[in-house]
Amino acid sequence: MNDQGRVTTASLLKAKMSGRKISMLTAYDFPTAKLLDDSSVDIILVGDSLGNVILGYENTLPVTMEDMLHHTKAVRRGVSRAMLVVDMPFMSFQTGGRDALLSAARFIKEAGAEGVKIEGDNYIDEMAAMIKAGIPVMGHLGFTPQYVEQIGGYKVAGKTKAEADKILASARKLEKIGIFALVLEMVPSALAKKVTNALMIPVIGIGAGHHCDGQVLVTHDLVGLYPKPVPRFVKQYANLGKLMKEAVSTFIWEVHSGKFPGKENSF
Ligand code: KIV
Repeated sequence: MNDQGRVTTASLLKAKMSGRKISMLTAYDFPTAKLLDDSSVDIILVGDSLGNVILGYENTLPVTMEDMLHHTKAVRRGVSRAMLVVDMPFMSFQTGGRDALLSAARFIKEAGAEGVKIEGDNYIDEMAAMIKAGIPVMGHLGFTPQYVEQIGGYKVAGKTKAEADKILASARKLEKIGIFALVLEMVPSALAKKVTNALMIPVIGIGAGHHCDGQVLVTHDLVGLYPKPVPRFVKQYANLGKLMKEAVSTFIWEVHSGKFPGKENSF
């Protein structure tokens, strides 16, 4: 945290150096963002996972800039402490340097994000140009959901020595251009340990074991609000879906039976 109690790139680096683990969760709306911020989570990510958990798509590929901007603006209104990072959606940076820089700038200028996240290292020049312009960039290696069609499904990455060496080399390359943190998704724990130890910047894992400097999950998975099967690396801390169903069924029953509204709900 800085002097104003806000989480920054500098305070995240300090957390890594002191061995304090970093927490990161996704939010796509104002109430969830406020709840997470009030709970003192370090980083709030407007993930393009909103394609799955909010918009009901099969994967993140259909998510647009306008979707991400709309949800980031809502999240911004609920965040006063955590660092607010947003995913650059599929095809918002792949069409060239100028497009990439302008897309990233929209998240900072229009939506109030404090950093952007980009999957893979295929667009490292575009990432470097953002960093040169003063935009904090978070990397994302291992399993990268925007490449799911090319990968051929949701698979653990870095299982062979060649794959693991490539991920470590990419992580080093990204650190060299100045990313402030790296998300490592669905890789063997031993590889995550190696990458975490090799980098000075924080490495935040999802399905990457306990050696990372921090952990990230999709909030809807964590609280049981996503109505489809979740990956093995998810730990469900609550079942809000079940609670909501019970509340809604009670409401319906009380409407049908005339119990609601009562005198206390009427004027
Ligand atoms: O889109 C997302 O929510 C993510 C996290 C799971 C890291 O990229």
